Amino acid sequence: MISVPFFDLTRQYATMEKEILDAILPLLRSQQFILGPAVSEFEGQFAHAFGLSRAVGVSSGTDALVLSLVASGLRPGQGVLVPSFTFFASASAISLAGGTPVFLDVDPASFLMTPEILDRFLREETRPGPGERPVTRRGNHLISGVMAVHLYGQMVDMEELYRVARSHGLWIVEDACQSVGARHSDRPPGLFSNAAAYSFFPTKNLGGAGDGGMVTTENPDFADHLLRLRVHGSRKRYEHEEMGYNARLDALQARILSVKLSRLGDWTTRRRELAGRYNEAFRDLPGTALPVPQPECLHVYHQYTLRIDGEGRRDSLRTFLSERGIGSEVYYPIPLHRQEAFAGLVPGTSPLPVSERLCREVISLPVFPELTDNEQERVIDAVRAFLGR
Ligand SMILES: Cc1ncc(COP(=O)(O)O)c(C=O)c1O
Repeated sequence: MISVPFFDLTRQYATMEKEILDAILPLLRSQQFILGPAVSEFEGQFAHAFGLSRAVGVSSGTDALVLSLVASGLRPGQGVLVPSFTFFASASAISLAGGTPVFLDVDPASFLMTPEILDRFLREETRPGPGERPVTRRGNHLISGVMAVHLYGQMVDMEELYRVARSHGLWIVEDACQSVGARHSDRPPGLFSNAAAYSFFPTKNLGGAGDGGMVTTENPDFADHLLRLRVHGSRKRYEHEEMGYNARLDALQARILSVKLSRLGDWTTRRRELAGRYNEAFRDLPGTALPVPQPECLHVYHQYTLRIDGEGRRDSLRTFLSERGIGSEVYYPIPLHRQEAFAGLVPGTSPLPVSERLCREVISLPVFPELTDNEQERVIDAVRAFLGR
């Protein structure tokens, strides 16, 4: 029996080995590994690819989030609203930047913390403040910002989220780590917020040969602040204006990512084709909810994730697939408000029933661009055999 992997990075590398080696060889020969033209050229290419003003290369998606939160002016203990159903780093970045994550629920169809969810929370929790402005608190924590997460490759409606957040004086940072190339109303992440943070973790839609990340912003002062923060808070060598980090994108990564960026459009097209075929094949299956894109969204399907109703059925499907050599994953099995790391750090969370339910029901199927049509047929046949019975 031939197995179908959940993803296989070696296939992609095999299509571009020579280009990658040609791109990094001059760097190896020059031994110039820190910043320099490799990084600034890739930053320019990345910003240009999505029609954005500025891009700042950093060491990971997590650091992209931390630096964006610090540059947003997050003060110790201040609360930042974040969905509970996402990867750990969307919220740990808030704690690492000195703030406090305040968890909200997500929408069961899109898996996203939508403007409606944010609006409902703010209406319920906002009270008249000491000055002119009303304030939103959770426990002792003044809410200052929002972490919008574009999960699985689908964007939140940022224009509407911005309207809601602004009306309560809140800033936004976008976690676009899973959504490079995604659009909403034909606009990329980063236009209705302080910044959008990306990850180049190897398995991401645009993945490096190790860790890497990027922050995009339309605000030149914000971009300059990030440039300082990523090199120890310093603009001029050995002069430090503030506490900073060692959070630079490696030159080697930048060269490899420059090569890969030129292929991203084709990879996204293939991901969308595979997802469209899954959606078509599973349309009539009972007890499932498919990741049909929200209106106005260009979904880039970092994950093809569906929901399987019924106690234990998702786990039985995973076993069924694995017995047939088919890879699948669960992103994510535990909601963040139940993670031990946040115990005691996070003020009382209201019930988040959708996040809890999604952790029991979601399953992600293979959707990487190099998956063959035959392999996808095998996945479709197996899922239909299990769910159609
Ligand atoms: C939604 C989300 N946020 C943040 C991150 C953190 O990115 P990194 O692993 O590059 O630090 C990831 C990926 O790992 C992610 O999927």
